[in-house]
This record gives sequence, structure tokens and C-alpha cells, in this order.
Amino acid sequence: MSVGLFARTKVIVSQADPRSNPTPLPGEAALPVSSSSDPAASGSGESGGSRSGSSSDSVIGRLVVDKGLATQAEVDAAFAAMKTPAGQVKAFVDILVEGQIVTRRQLARLRTEAESDKTVLRIPGYQMIRKLGAGAMASVYLAKQTSLDRLVAIKILPRRYSGDANFIERFYKEGRAAAKLSDPNIVGAFDVGQVGEQHFFVMEYVDGETVYERIVKAKRLTERDALTITRQVASALKHAHARGFIHRDIKPKNIVMTKSNVAKLADLGLARAISDKKSAEAEKNKAFGTPYYISPEQIRGAVDIGPPADIYGLGATFYHMLTGRVPFQGINPTQVMQNHLSAELIPPDQVVSGISQSTAEIVEMMMKKSPRDRYQTAAELLEDIDHALAGEPLRYASRSVDLSKIATEVEGEAQTEVQTKSSQRLSGLAIGLIVGLGCLSGLLLLLLLLKK
Ligand SMILES: Nc1ncnc2c1ncn2[C@@H]1O[C@H](COP(=O)(O)OP(=O)(O)O)[C@@H](O)[C@H]1O
Ligand SMILES: [Mg+2]
Repeated sequence: MSVGLFARTKVIVSQADPRSNPTPLPGEAALPVSSSSDPAASGSGESGGSRSGSSSDSVIGRLVVDKGLATQAEVDAAFAAMKTPAGQVKAFVDILVEGQIVTRRQLARLRTEAESDKTVLRIPGYQMIRKLGAGAMASVYLAKQTSLDRLVAIKILPRRYSGDANFIERFYKEGRAAAKLSDPNIVGAFDVGQVGEQHFFVMEYVDGETVYERIVKAKRLTERDALTITRQVASALKHAHARGFIHRDIKPKNIVMTKSNVAKLADLGLARAISDKKSAEAEKNKAFGTPYYISPEQIRGAVDIGPPADIYGLGATFYHMLTGRVPFQGINPTQVMQNHLSAELIPPDQVVSGISQSTAEIVEMMMKKSPRDRYQTAAELLEDIDHALAGEPLRYASRSVDLSKIATEVEGEAQTEVQTKSSQRLSGLAIGLIVGLGCLSGLLLLLLLLKK
């Protein structure tokens, strides 16, 4: 791992290079580190003989700018310096190194990236720029849609799905339907297509960071931030659910935050194409993507997955934002899923003090084991979140076991006990008095008789 290798552009690197993934969260396994040997670490950083203005030079030039290691003007100057006044040709990469724009180690890494760039699918109409990230299922690339001159994100599905006719059919059907969704809190779906055996999904590019990255950076979010992000995603869900979409994979990595703090829900229309069981199986032997946010009914393989499943996933995400911890942990995906099914949730306000009771109640209601006990619609959830934000009483959620009520009851019982004890004492005293008086009167009677 070489965090800080491209230290000048930390944010860009964290998106561009999956190897610079953030530190794992408590209970979350480390994110995958490229298993191939890191050329930067192996030190094979010789510059090699680049030809004047070769295509690999231009790829390196572009990557250097993308990574923020140099400005376009600096790269142009380096290209211009390739021809020395003496008529010799200098290697472009040597100029970069000599000009201290990149180190040889960085160069080696850039080369590897440039190589993998070449093997990236070429999609007519799009110019691939760089990798944005990779999940359990696919890789996502930043690209330019040449016709409209706009940046887009392209998800490229692995080849293994191309043989599954059912999957492909669902993928296209869902893709077409997702393109009809239009909401400020949903990443727009633009296009689906196929090149050779590979299928791809073109979507709106969100220049920002995922909620997952935010949690890692800040350890946990403030209650207000967590509430407003949850509110925005609930609003996205309201829009999607009304049009028959269930997301099925709500998680911090599927919520991308723009630079102006707008939360955008990604991957709508994709998750349904991949059955929940399939996702869980695909994740089984990987060190990431364990099912921390999956609803109990999805684990059970229920056929009628409805809005409450997304509300559960959002509840688990909300919990994670508030506490910095996933709601249920385990040594493997099976155990995590088992805990979703049967383990009792530790209320978020017991994990982190200072979380308001209403926020905790909302999370608890979102994460009820039975879908019937949860908010039935995103609209209901929105209503409660708005009440919580305004500091008003909630309409739907309440603790089934009201701790404050229990406290009053305990207090009441204690009082009754005290009363009982004192009345016992009183009656004891009365009996004593009666017995005493009885004895006294008996004694008097005896005295009178003796006198006579
Ligand atoms: N529309 C998008 N705009 C910007 N970045 C994105 C977009 N979609 C996905 N990403 C990035 O690519 C990564 C991989 O996405 P994905 O394959 O959906 O996997 P996952 O959701 O499991 O992380 C995301 O975590 C995110 O960093
Ligand atoms: Mg995703």
C-alpha cells in the first residue's frame, strides 16, 4: 500500500486507486489490496525508452494530470522538451523524473495503471479516463461521452455474467427502466450496452466521495449530518418505490456525496438484476462486501421483497453513520447474516452517548426484524425524520419498551413497597398497643379483684 504516494491529490487518489482504500472499519474486513506485486514497492522504476510522443507517453501524461501530480502546462512543457536543442530526443518520462514531477516509483505505478487502462473495454462513443473504483461485482470507470462532451461513470460487468441469459435480460430491462427515474438524489442512468462479451452501464458521474469514505475519514458522522443524508436517501427511495423499484443494496458505498453535500443513491436498477443470494455467494470468499446492511427477508430468500427491505438497509447505513460501527458484526458473512436474523440490536444511543432518543427510535424502527414492524413506506420515514430534525415528537416510531416509563414504574413500585412496609409497621404497633392495653386492663382487673 502506498498511501500518500500521490499525496498532492489525496481525494483523487482515494477514488482512482483501489489500493489506497481507507482503513477498514471496526468489524469490517480490510478492503481488497491488489494481489499483483506492487511495482512501486518492487522498485522496478527504470524509465525505459519512450518514443517521441508515443501513445504510452500521452497516457502517462494524462494520468500525471489526472492525479494532480502536474498541470497540463507542465506536461506540455515536458513534451516540448523532448527534442533537445542539439537535435537529440529525450524520453518523456525521463524529463518528468528529472523535473521532479514524478519519482521513478510513481512512474512505475503509473505504467501499471496505463497498462490496465489499455485492457479496459473500449466503448464506442466514450473515452475512458481512469478507474473510479471497484466493488464485489464490477469496476467503475470515469469516461467522457464524446458526443455530449460530458463526464460519465461506466460500470463494466465481469464476463462471467455474459453467459447468464436471465441475468442479461434483467440487466437490460432494469437499465431501461432506471433511465426513466429522475430525482436529484438518484444517480442518473444514461445507457446500457454491450461490447463483445462485456456489458456496461453508463451513469451520471458524481464528483465527490461515498458515505463510506466519509465515515472512514470522520470515524462517525454528526447526528444532524446522518439525519440529513438519511433524509435525502429516503426521498430517493420514495421516488424509486413509487415507480416499482426496490434498490436491494442500500449501503454507505452506494451513496455518493457531491461536493455541495447532495446525497446521490447509486446502482438503482442494477441490484435487482443480481439476485441477493448470488451477491452473497459472490462475496463469500472475498475480504470485502460482507452483508452488513442486508435485510432479514433478503437473507431468508423471500420472494416478495418490498420497500421495507430498503428501509432496513438504510437503517443499517444510518446506524453506521451515527456510531461508526456496523449494526451486526461476525467473523464471516454467514455469522453477520445470522445476527441480522436473530441478534438483538444494541440501540445506537447505547453505543454513542448524546444521540437523541428520537433518532435512536427511528433507527430501531427501520431495523426491526420483521418488515411489518418497520416503516411501511419511505414517506412515513421522511415524516419521522422531519419531526426529529425539528425536535418534535415522532409520529410512527417509539420504543416498544419505553425506558422512561420503566423508570417511573420502578419508582412507583419502590414507593408502594415503602408504603406497605410503613403500614406493616403501623399495624404492628397497633397490635402491640391493643395487646399492651389488653394486658394492662387485665392487670387492673386483677388488682381490683384482689382489693375486694
Ligand atoms: N456514479 C458514480 N460516480 C462516481 N463514482 C462512482 C459512481 N458509481 C460508483 N462509483 C465509485 O466506484 C466504486 C465501485 O462501485 P460499485 O462497483 O458499485 O461497487 P460498490 O458499490 O460495492 O462500492 C464506488 O464505491 C464508488 O467509489
Ligand atoms: Mg455501487
